[in-house]
Amino acid sequence: MLKILVMVSGGGTNLQAILDRITDGSLNDVQIVGVISNKKDAYALERAKKYGISAICVSKKDFPVKEEFNQELIKQVDAFSPDLIVLAGFLVILPKELITKYENKIINIHPSLIPSFCGAGCYGLKVHEMVLERGCKVTGATVHFVDDGTDTGPILLQKAVQVHQMDTPETLQKRVMEEAEWILLPETIRLIAAGKVKVNGKQTEIME
Ligand code: GRF
Repeated sequence: MLKILVMVSGGGTNLQAILDRITDGSLNDVQIVGVISNKKDAYALERAKKYGISAICVSKKDFPVKEEFNQELIKQVDAFSPDLIVLAGFLVILPKELITKYENKIINIHPSLIPSFCGAGCYGLKVHEMVLERGCKVTGATVHFVDDGTDTGPILLQKAVQVHQMDTPETLQKRVMEEAEWILLPETIRLIAAGKVKVNGKQTEIME
């Protein structure tokens, strides 16, 4: 059984996608042992509680010193003893200590085809605005391991999504979620749980 910890900041539709796959039986041998949010009012926390999953908030606002927040975050993560940490819209730069401790055990979903439209400051609706401004015909989503850069870790899965002529950032965001993110994230977890993923430096090998 792969014990996963999901870290969130917002609505948690990606968390829901994982929960749905566990519920319908297509994601076996995986258990969500906890959810951590940095926002007290994140709807993702409610989603977790509905499934009886331990859901807590660790907010920067409660810690005057950043290092204290970092240490509390690490302490709470460790308390769940996760085999895999899933960043599903977690808008906090992880402490280096945590990344080192959980090397190749943290994955993130990013709403573009990395290495396009990623890196510092490139998150949320901004990504889709930039895709439209650049006039791209295709975009997508990427699941990657987290290293100490921003969106620079080994890529696990990617899926392309068509950009439509009439798209707004909002309609594009919705299509990327529906056609890519909600499929890719549970699928990546399934592959990792099944031992189908090998990491070779910057590259991954999916053994299917
Ligand atoms: C998603 O677009 C994800 O790619 C990004 O943050 C968003 C989270 O959405 N990292 P949700 O909270 O899962 O609905």
